[in-house]
Amino acid sequence: MKAERYERGFLLLSGGVLVVFLGALAYATVARGITLPTRVAEVNPNTVRKTPPFDQPGVRDLGGGRYEVVLIGQTWAYTPAEIDLPVGAQVTFKATSVDVIHGLKIEGTLVNVMLIPGQVTEVGYTFDKPGVYPMICHEYCGVLHHTMHGKVVVR
Ligand code: CUA
Repeated sequence: MKAERYERGFLLLSGGVLVVFLGALAYATVARGITLPTRVAEVNPNTVRKTPPFDQPGVRDLGGGRYEVVLIGQTWAYTPAEIDLPVGAQVTFKATSVDVIHGLKIEGTLVNVMLIPGQVTEVGYTFDKPGVYPMICHEYCGVLHHTMHGKVVVR
């Protein structure tokens, strides 16, 4: 029957689209190394600044080219606002928010996460090229959202 043939065609088309999307997912994960940030811990947003490691935000040299960056998002700034790293630094960002949901996108990198009050977000990146990488809040967080930015300086 004619209708059945069309039905089969649409089923094949739907299946094909699914395969393409799954392929894109596999490509992003395996070939591009794009993964979801992990939720590693919880932290009381009211006592973030007294809770390690957030009581000392900034860059920590872990040795062997590895670094940890502890970052706090708040309306409307990052602490620290400027992060200095050497070329080749393998960085693990540990970040959270003390008030509302903020974003952390580092231009020119794969770092693109949400900073959620009460949650610790962890994401890694290796800075292979020197340069200035703007950090931008990409979650609307109030009237001065557009002024919330910082930078990673790699030299
Ligand atoms: Cu913070 Cu928008």
